[in-house]
Amino acid sequence: MENFEFHNPTKLLFGKGEIEKIANEIVRYGNKILIVTGGGSVKKIGILDQAIVHLEASGCTWFHLEGIEPNPRLTTIQKGIEICKREGIEIVLAIGGGSVIDASKAICAGAMYDGDVWDFYTRKSTIRSALPLGTVLTLAATGSEMNGNSVVTNWETQEKLAVGSNKLLPKFSILDPTYTYSVPKDHTVYGIVDIMSHVFEQYFSHTSHTPLQDRFSEAILKTVIENATKVIDNPKNYDARANILLSSTFALNGLINIGKTTDWATHAIEHAVSAVYDIPHGGGLAILFPHWMAYVMDNGIEKFVTFAVNVWNVETEGKTDKEIALEGITKTREFFNRIGAPSQLKNYNIGSERIEEMAEKAVRGGTIGSYKRLTKEDVIKILQESL
Ligand code: NZQ
Ligand code: ZN
Repeated sequence: MENFEFHNPTKLLFGKGEIEKIANEIVRYGNKILIVTGGGSVKKIGILDQAIVHLEASGCTWFHLEGIEPNPRLTTIQKGIEICKREGIEIVLAIGGGSVIDASKAICAGAMYDGDVWDFYTRKSTIRSALPLGTVLTLAATGSEMNGNSVVTNWETQEKLAVGSNKLLPKFSILDPTYTYSVPKDHTVYGIVDIMSHVFEQYFSHTSHTPLQDRFSEAILKTVIENATKVIDNPKNYDARANILLSSTFALNGLINIGKTTDWATHAIEHAVSAVYDIPHGGGLAILFPHWMAYVMDNGIEKFVTFAVNVWNVETEGKTDKEIALEGITKTREFFNRIGAPSQLKNYNIGSERIEEMAEKAVRGGTIGSYKRLTKEDVIKILQESL
């Protein structure tokens, strides 16, 4: 195990009706709020109104930025930064999925910076301060509600880049499983794939002697697998929604990667595909991940054997390690297919035309991943397998 520091101060308020506590949490940081939302779902479900009732009752003033896109765009974020600077906003409240939360993080950082917020994503500058952020999550997927990451698309340059900073960790996040009842089937599925993919990125590592982190990871995967069909068949199954929601938060809040080197190559490739074709993140991951697994498994077959046995209950008797590992990968693909996730880039009408460009965007002049360091040529092969 490697040395590590673990510090996650985000306060979780989990369960039905926790929105009632929103004003108490907000006023610790200020009472001039920018509320950030997406394309209208939170208005339709009534969450926005619920939040506003509590905030107004506590004497808060609020401004509203709506229309954050899935795969949030820099141009919309810049509008939020302008409001914060102009109105002297004290705290940002994100109500929505990962896109709304990621955009809000960018707004929080941009509001305290004189330059262009995109500088943080291109590594021209580092985040030194940010406005406080609170979130009300409506979709189980990214873990953004309890991490310091933000992923933003610059549509002009067709780049989708991430930044991570402790300054972006939400002060609090309200996680009410009933708020995820209305997530449509496709986004429920993409969320499930995203959660599992976050675990894969951290589980497949050459760092040895990390049994606790690995068992945490397997527990998240098994919890998601057990509850996936339950939420798809019955979107209002409270306990199944709650377990998927909790899994999403703990899959990417800094817990399962403590003391480990992690990979993240598949996310880099998916972000490149999304930057060019604007496809849903979880849909891209479902297509790419089993191909990444097959491509890198010879660099450390043991972990793939453990994965096959502990997560998918693959029988080992009379089989070689390679056969067991391949069966685990096949079971992963079959599971994605069973829940209705896409399996080929052509499902999104993506052909081979821009593969080289996507590979270049993924590696950005270097290599990606750690289980096997991938060059541009490796990424091209994985993308070709995914067509
Ligand atoms: O825009 P609205 O109207 O809110 O609708 C959204 C959107 O169309 C809808 N939705 C959300 N909650 C709903 C709902 N519809 C009905 N009922 C509800 N309760 O779902 C659609 C997708 O929302 P989005 O926020 O885009 O999804 P997700 O949470 O999967 O976020 C994806 C973004 O997060 C990034 C992805 O790259 C992508 O840009 N990621 C962020 C990460 C992080 N911050 O740590 C890590 C991830 O790996 C990922 O890269
Ligand atoms: Zn992801």
